[in-house]
Amino acid sequence: MAQRIFLTGGTGFFGVHAAAVFLRRGYQVALGTRQPVLYAHTPLAAWVVQANILNQEELFSAVRRFQPDLIIHSAAYSNPLQAEQHRVRALEMNVVGTSNVIGVATALEIPVVFLSTDLVFDGQKGNYGEEDVAKPIIEYGRTKLLAESLFQRQVLLSRWIIVRTSLMFGYPLPWNPGYPGFASEALRQGKTVRLFTDQYRSPVLVSDVADAILRLWQAQHWRQLFHVGGPERINRVDFVRRFCHIADIPTTGIIETTMEEVPEYTTRVRDVSLNAAKLQRTLQWQPTPLEEAFHQLVTEPSPLEQIASFATSVPISSAATSRS
Ligand SMILES: NC(=O)c1ccc[n+]([C@@H]2O[C@H](COP(=O)([O-])OP(=O)(O)OC[C@H]3O[C@@H](n4cnc5c(N)ncnc54)[C@H](OP(=O)(O)O)[C@@H]3O)[C@@H](O)[C@H]2O)c1
Repeated sequence: MAQRIFLTGGTGFFGVHAAAVFLRRGYQVALGTRQPVLYAHTPLAAWVVQANILNQEELFSAVRRFQPDLIIHSAAYSNPLQAEQHRVRALEMNVVGTSNVIGVATALEIPVVFLSTDLVFDGQKGNYGEEDVAKPIIEYGRTKLLAESLFQRQVLLSRWIIVRTSLMFGYPLPWNPGYPGFASEALRQGKTVRLFTDQYRSPVLVSDVADAILRLWQAQHWRQLFHVGGPERINRVDFVRRFCHIADIPTTGIIETTMEEVPEYTTRVRDVSLNAAKLQRTLQWQPTPLEEAFHQLVTEPSPLEQIASFATSVPISSAATSRS
């Protein structure tokens, strides 16, 4: 019988792309969300379920019905700028919500992979490995580090893995252009886009992150932290330029800028590039080279089209109950 994966954040940029990867590899997938309506017009081979992680009973009931072999906790208050302004909400979602997920997983004895972020680092050094001390300077990073510590202090839940990822990039979603879509779509329409020259990260293809998670889970690397960064340390402007070159999008609308030049941009973290050597050593995992990844984005169907294509072959309507 196919193994089952329950995703919190099932409408998120990661959740949608990951679902396409998991379905393609033969897993059954449940997408937990507060907004199942987003999928109302897409035929799906995944089970879409109302599961607000701040409502522990609702979450418990959704997870128990699906009986997954793994929970991937990707739901988050994930916008760093907004987290500065709405600190209580960010804390609630990222810490209380994560605590609820841990509670449900513990009660039902299901392992969890938690998605954390490169923004737990202060950005002074770059090329961060797992042994480097995390000292977040922005609220979003603080809440995600607190959430990490909930796993690390667990006594009852023994099967967890923390995956810290860098900026994830992939095909735009109808409700979230993501990265690089937020910039490339505007440029395609002849608009101008301000991009930072002084912010460095290790952008990683979102489906590479999904692949790394599957492999860490299957190899049972419990109670460990892994950095899942992309192949290069790169700033935003160079990244978007290289994507646009492959996608044949004019870049004349790019305005190069520094973080200091944008007063409202208060989350100025300079270089949080990640060193993924531990993952590469442990699993012989390699991120897709950027130009190859860009070609994939330009030529492959969107993740929603991919998810829909499985719907014809995999009847999922009974998935939530077939084990009961
Ligand atoms: N994207 C990146 O580049 C990046 C980089 C590093 C780390 N991460 C981490 O990776 C994870 C996934 O990121 P993402 O880009 O996919 O995020 P995203 O696109 O912003 O999606 C966030 C998800 O969280 C869900 N959510 C928010 N509040 C919720 C609640 N109370 N109950 C249930 N679900 C809730 C949203 O679902 P509904 O609104 O539909 O309920 C949405 O599906 C996050 O944990 C983020 O911190 C992301």
